Amino acid sequence: MQEPNWLGLQGKVFAITGAAHGIGLGIAHGLAAAGAHVALLDFDHPAAQEAAATLARSGAKAVAVHCDTTDSQSLAAAAEQVRHALGTCSGLVNNAGILRSASLADVGLDEWNRVLGVNLTGYLLTARAFRPQLQASGHSSIVHIASIAGSFPQTHSGAYSASKAGIRLMSRQIAVEWRNDHIRSNTICPGMIRTPLSAAFYAQPGLEASRAAMTASGRVGEPEDIANTALFLLSARSAYINATDIAVNGGMDAMLMDMVPRPGFNHTAKQEA
Ligand SMILES: NC(=O)c1ccc[n+]([C@@H]2O[C@H](COP(=O)([O-])OP(=O)(O)OC[C@H]3O[C@@H](n4cnc5c(N)ncnc54)[C@H](O)[C@@H]3O)[C@@H](O)[C@H]2O)c1
Repeated sequence: MQEPNWLGLQGKVFAITGAAHGIGLGIAHGLAAAGAHVALLDFDHPAAQEAAATLARSGAKAVAVHCDTTDSQSLAAAAEQVRHALGTCSGLVNNAGILRSASLADVGLDEWNRVLGVNLTGYLLTARAFRPQLQASGHSSIVHIASIAGSFPQTHSGAYSASKAGIRLMSRQIAVEWRNDHIRSNTICPGMIRTPLSAAFYAQPGLEASRAAMTASGRVGEPEDIANTALFLLSARSAYINATDIAVNGGMDAMLMDMVPRPGFNHTAKQEA
């Protein structure tokens, strides 16, 4: 029988950026269900407030905090608001991210800087704003949401792949530089997850089925798939996991050789039946 409180997150305080929608919202729900106290940081404050109210109605302790992760002052105020409302934070999820369509030949410098500003510099500024609380909590964990695009180039996405590769290394650097503060730092690299960020793709007829066929797990991912991994990395159950990346992509990166045309070897589901 499974121990219901196996993760030991009850009563602990966690901050999640970009928690009003998508993956961040999924992580907030997962943490609240595990009995944790949750701060939902987002610049879409009405949506974060609505989400916090929903969690509170189900008995969780949750607070919405208005915050722009590219602005140090906004982050300092947010960190103080979290401490005041919920207590000292013992874990942070750096999740707020943006994707913009542009090729490297054409991407404007403003757009390039904006993507790096949110997806990379914003993660550093947020980690720094919460560092005093993470230090004070004794043993803590930072989880950065990167992407499979940080390992494989994704064309026409401007700075996105570069920003996601950057956070994978910066996470390891945090783990090394802040080791004496007992702050662990790891990344999760999601594959294709159905969220508002990717909703326009799934509106295309047939796209979901073709994406599902590209994963060993045979389906598109859901925010809950990332949340389950994040909860584990935030918990003391992962105490010896540090400075690493965890791919949560349904085995998509193992499908490469299966996508190479090889007459006689590429079996369709029909042939196998
Ligand atoms: N959806 C996917 O398939 C997928 C795949 C790989 C990685 N990711 C990564 O997962 C993370 C979450 O993505 P998602 O799909 O849930 O996106 P989403 O667009 O659904 O949600 C992102 C949230 O971040 C908030 N946000 C954006 N910039 C902000 C800022 N500067 N300050 C405060 N809040 C801000 C938005 O308001 C929104 O609530 C991102 O880092 C994204 O790159 C997503």
